[in-house]
Amino acid sequence: MSASDFALDPAVHHLNPGAFGIVPAVVRAAQARYQRAADANPMRFHRVDGPALVARAREAAGEFLGAEVVLVRNATEAAATVLAAADLRAGEEVLVSDHGYGAIAHSARSTAERTGARVRVAPIPVGATSERIVAAFAAGLTDRTKLVLVDAISSATALVLPVAEIAAVCRERGALVHVDAAHAPGHLRQRPDQLGAHTWAGNLHKWAYTPNTSAALWIAPEHRERVRPLVPSWEFPHGYPRWFDHAGTSDYSGWMAIPDGLAYWASIGGWDAVDAGARSLDRGVEVVSAALGAPGQVSPLHAPLMRLVRLPAGRVVDLASSNALYAELSARGVEAAVVEFGGEGFVRLAGSPHITENDYRALADALTAQFA
Ligand SMILES: Cc1ncc(COP(=O)(O)O)c(C=O)c1O
Repeated sequence: MSASDFALDPAVHHLNPGAFGIVPAVVRAAQARYQRAADANPMRFHRVDGPALVARAREAAGEFLGAEVVLVRNATEAAATVLAAADLRAGEEVLVSDHGYGAIAHSARSTAERTGARVRVAPIPVGATSERIVAAFAAGLTDRTKLVLVDAISSATALVLPVAEIAAVCRERGALVHVDAAHAPGHLRQRPDQLGAHTWAGNLHKWAYTPNTSAALWIAPEHRERVRPLVPSWEFPHGYPRWFDHAGTSDYSGWMAIPDGLAYWASIGGWDAVDAGARSLDRGVEVVSAALGAPGQVSPLHAPLMRLVRLPAGRVVDLASSNALYAELSARGVEAAVVEFGGEGFVRLAGSPHITENDYRALADALTAQFA
């Protein structure tokens, strides 16, 4: 596998593939075939072939993840689905951490504003140990906590959270647990049904090479009647899982190409490719840390394919300054995630078979030019 498997601009160093996913050309071609079939005979495709292809995709996603799932468009939609099903009442609480994904925290706030519930935020230092992370969630629980949103891999800070331990503490206190595993599929060896959570959602379009708008939502069996699609449609009378299969007239080709994306993931080595990407990222962390005079990756809890290196103090202190540094790097043909967390600046590196040492060196050079 190489960068030429994708439509990526070869003049650019693409060091942040997890943000929006990268789609192999063969997968895009498969998706285009589904779209052409829809155009060739819309009536038959939408009535007959389409539903069968969606059901096939849903089953393929479940097989890949090791548990039966339904399809949603993305992790954001999954969280909104779970928040809607939580049936929050005035005075009840949703617990999130300050590492949680911003859009999903907004979703929690929107639901809380509408229902009179409250969002409580558990603060976690970026270098926290697993024990400290569990303790932070435990400290945020109250008798009013109804739902806890936990990241499998935090977006900005790339930490693998001890989800099972957190879920155990939450269950003891009677709270529902949703795992936002946006970055997990094809990246973490994590089975949705083995964490003690009530719901779990992962994007296949980040690390599993499926087109955008392909995500999986796992719902614990006893909650499958309660957690319903946000947009009930013609499949509604069939109940779970089919009532998630259709949300009105739309382009479902992203879902239909899930088996093609997963086949590509397997064809480049599957978990072996993930392990190779992690080793190459070890080297990337060395290269960038050496250039910045940083001590290496910030936490031992970082994800296999995403790690933070601390930037020299003072330059990135808020969203505006992180956006400004990102723009400087981008102007030099380097696409990388510049992160601000707790008033400190970091660069988030990724590992992927298409990223070479040359790409890490380009990032190191671009950063050195900025911090010289
Ligand atoms: C932890 C986490 N949750 C949710 C999302 C949102 O994903 P999507 O935009 O596909 O819903 C992201 C995206 O990076 C993420 O990292």
